[in-house]
Amino acid sequence: MKTLFIAGISGSIGEQALEVLNTEWFKENVKLIGGSVYSNWNKLKIDIDKYKLKAVAIVNAQQNLPNDYNDCKIFQGEDSVEKAIQYCDSDISLIATSGFSGLKHTISAINFSERICLANKESIVCGGNYVLNLAKKFKKLIIPVDSEHSAIYQLLLGEVTIPEKIILTASGGSVRDIPIDSLENVTPKEVLNHPVWSMGARITVDSATMVNKGLEVFEAYHLFGVKNIDVLINRDSHVHSIVQFSDGVFKMHFGLPNMKVPIAFSISYPERKFNFNKPLLSNTKIEFQKVDYNRYPSLQLAFNILGNPILQNAFNAADEVAVESFLSGGIKFTDIYYIIYKTINKIQQEFSNSTGREFISLEEILEVDKISRTIAKQFILQSR
Ligand SMILES: NC(=O)c1ccc[n+]([C@@H]2O[C@H](COP(=O)([O-])OP(=O)(O)OC[C@H]3O[C@@H](n4cnc5c(N)ncnc54)[C@H](OP(=O)(O)O)[C@@H]3O)[C@@H](O)[C@H]2O)c1
Repeated sequence: MKTLFIAGISGSIGEQALEVLNTEWFKENVKLIGGSVYSNWNKLKIDIDKYKLKAVAIVNAQQNLPNDYNDCKIFQGEDSVEKAIQYCDSDISLIATSGFSGLKHTISAINFSERICLANKESIVCGGNYVLNLAKKFKKLIIPVDSEHSAIYQLLLGEVTIPEKIILTASGGSVRDIPIDSLENVTPKEVLNHPVWSMGARITVDSATMVNKGLEVFEAYHLFGVKNIDVLINRDSHVHSIVQFSDGVFKMHFGLPNMKVPIAFSISYPERKFNFNKPLLSNTKIEFQKVDYNRYPSLQLAFNILGNPILQNAFNAADEVAVESFLSGGIKFTDIYYIIYKTINKIQQEFSNSTGREFISLEEILEVDKISRTIAKQFILQSR
């Protein structure tokens, strides 16, 4: 029986992971022993009771919580997730925290777990190779959970040749059919209504701007060591990504769009133990469209800074700040791109001596993130 900790247990990925754990093979082979949330104590309490957890973490406890509940240790505050991961010392950690805060959770998981199932793409996007180098140093296995990267990981199993090209697929997001001229007036409600995937708020907005695809381009570059990356739109998200080799052969990963599949794969790897609906190929049309970069300028921006860890970090930080502002009515949908663009330019000036090189410490990564957020907030204030 393998033990498992889920960081971000109350989120979209966390909830779907719990559904996976309640299916046949997983019930008998994986024991959930801990989890973390930002503030959702009610959810955590249910999980403690149901799974008899060993320890949990709540970063922002709004009420006075005890240090123990039902024989489960409760860590609270800023470093609580790292402490809970250490205390649980699980075989596997699934890092499904949203945003930059997941980076520290991933680093902690690398220290204490043998396998890290990584949904939190920001861990790799913001630190460049820092996290991957750490995992290599401690001989820990990182298995991506993002559907595109899980697909590429699966496509490359058994291959000894590095692909010449990676093609990431994209749905196009929730406002893909709205005329470009009308995009500045779309509301958070419209943007949060994704046509294919049901996900957390930030990633749903990021999917509509294709900032998410930009983050995935960075993630793919670092995970698979290939810089020749393209993006194509596959509207029904049945093709999860493609690799092409020097002989022209494409391998593509086809399946129903459901995050439980890559979550389950990351946990049961190298075996496939999840049972799911089988798509029928007979009536299937596989279609791809080129990306219109006028509609998705943030993706073009991401390609422009690919391989520059400092600017990638700033790209993510500015977007997190801008999306939060968009969701609370502070800026327009189309402003998200401008906030990221201006923040990156400013960071490029401030770090002119060091852009282009890899991060060598966590402190550096945290510093660039912090400065980028401050700059992005200033640009948001100026845009009002
Ligand atoms: N959802 C998907 O289908 C999907 C697909 C591919 C990749 N991903 C990636 O997976 C990650 C999680 O996405 P999601 O959609 O599951 O997000 P989500 O639904 O917003 O859930 C986020 C989880 O992280 C916790 N959290 C948020 N901020 C935190 C902080 N500062 N410190 C500690 N915990 C914090 C939340 O706790 P509370 O509930 O208390 O706020 C919640 O448990 C993201 O990096 C995303 O890009 C998601």
